[in-house]
Amino acid sequence: MSDDLFKKITSHAKEYGFVYPSSEIYDGLSAVYDYGPNGVLLKNNIKQYWWKAMVQLHENIVGIDAAIFMHPTVWKASGHTDAFNDPLIDNKDSKKRYRADQLVEDHLAKIQAKIEKEVRKARKRFGDAFDEAKFRAEHPRVQKYAAQIDEISRKLNNALANNDLAALKALIDELEIADPVSGTRNWTDVKQFNLMFQTQLGAVAGSAQHLYLRPETAQGIFVNFNNVLKTARVKIPFGIAQIGKAFRNEIIARQFIFRMREFEQMEMQFFVRPGTEMKWYESWKEKRMHWHRSLGFPADLYRFKDHEQLAHYANAATDIEFRFPFGFKELEGIHSRTDFDLRRHEEFSGRKMRYFDPETRETYIPYVIETSIGLDRMFLAVLSASYAEESLDDGSTRIVLRIPAILAPVQVAVLPLVKKDGLPEKAREIFDRLKWDFQVQYDEKDAIGRRYRRQDAIGTPYAVTVDHQTLTDNTVTLRNRDTMQQERIPADDIPHILNQRLNLKAWLD
Ligand code: GAP
Repeated sequence: MSDDLFKKITSHAKEYGFVYPSSEIYDGLSAVYDYGPNGVLLKNNIKQYWWKAMVQLHENIVGIDAAIFMHPTVWKASGHTDAFNDPLIDNKDSKKRYRADQLVEDHLAKIQAKIEKEVRKARKRFGDAFDEAKFRAEHPRVQKYAAQIDEISRKLNNALANNDLAALKALIDELEIADPVSGTRNWTDVKQFNLMFQTQLGAVAGSAQHLYLRPETAQGIFVNFNNVLKTARVKIPFGIAQIGKAFRNEIIARQFIFRMREFEQMEMQFFVRPGTEMKWYESWKEKRMHWHRSLGFPADLYRFKDHEQLAHYANAATDIEFRFPFGFKELEGIHSRTDFDLRRHEEFSGRKMRYFDPETRETYIPYVIETSIGLDRMFLAVLSASYAEESLDDGSTRIVLRIPAILAPVQVAVLPLVKKDGLPEKAREIFDRLKWDFQVQYDEKDAIGRRYRRQDAIGTPYAVTVDHQTLTDNTVTLRNRDTMQQERIPADDIPHILNQRLNLKAWLD
């Protein structure tokens, strides 16, 4: 995968109504995006697929929908007011601001690129005889670069773990990192910058209460722990799930919808008996990976990356990373958060956040396993893994989004072969029957080949074509997006066939 491919995916997303820059007529707003007609359908289908897997299929998981505005003390208790920071550095010549850790990460990426270049050169030189693993393990220059990466990563992780801003600055100086804009090394000191957006409640200046836009949905779950406990008749172990917006004033806002300032999270907090959390952590790791793999994309697009530096409240944490066009990056986090959040809310609110366990007859603050996935990142993962450019037998090419049928924005297109002879009327009749159960698109404009291409480009898995034979025997052709094969079937069988292919159990189980 490459930068070039990523650019193509980004422009395809815009051209076909998936994602637009926000407020584009005013030249956009950095790292904020809007979803278009196909985008919103895909996004809703991803939400549904997650919600059903988490809430509908687990009798011990319930959902909530908490408000974005929360009492400001929530963020004191959660630690976000004091510690939800990024280390920033300014270049005095360009006046540009950067995330200090990201400058070092970019430097590491450059060294990694040198390794990849050596590997490419060697592969070209040795052809089929090339043993890549051996080359990476033994080639002196590759070894030297790998050692540099290890050493720099160690220093970076130490500085971040100890919140040592001077050490971070020293590392930037030591590596002689220059500003990509001005080319100079004229840096300020590194400062902490809180990522929460502030706003205020109330109209009267002076008496207004300062609020934050929530930077994660999880806290809406924690503060409702007692409410859910009292009203949902849940018993430990149980989970509370939520899908909703979160906001972060990200400094490095690039890579399209990968890192946004306004985004959506799908989070679930699973409350367990203290001491059993590792068992549940392993179980949720496995379940969440299974959910991703159920979509049928190649297995090598996913990997676990355990956190080396644990946050102070976690006793285990891993990321499910996805191979985006720009490399493996975090898609979902699975964290064992101990009893940190409930305990802190108990301290700050003065309300008990406890559970009476009828089995052990003990009262305790439950431990929590969290699964947290970015909806927009999942959207980008689906787009990236689905996008393909294919050369066809007739010498033409097509762009096809091989979106898993269960997520596809439009599930079936209904196309009259020609715009006359009563075919549009018959096709409309079929469209009207299908629209109650499926997202259907009717299209009669242009030659049939062009219409197939249009549906391929938005990832419609099936197309029903109505031709002259349909008028005599009520059969249609059903075209498969991926194989481009067509089968002749009775029009009355379409709902049954689609239901079979879009069956949740068949996908998830
Ligand atoms: N409650 C835990 C939490 O918020 P996180 O790792 O900061 O953990 C969870 O975020 C997920 O939210 C990430 O794995 C990612 O998919 C998504 N996410 C985080 N920041 C994001 C951003 N700026 N833009 C888009 N998605 C983001």
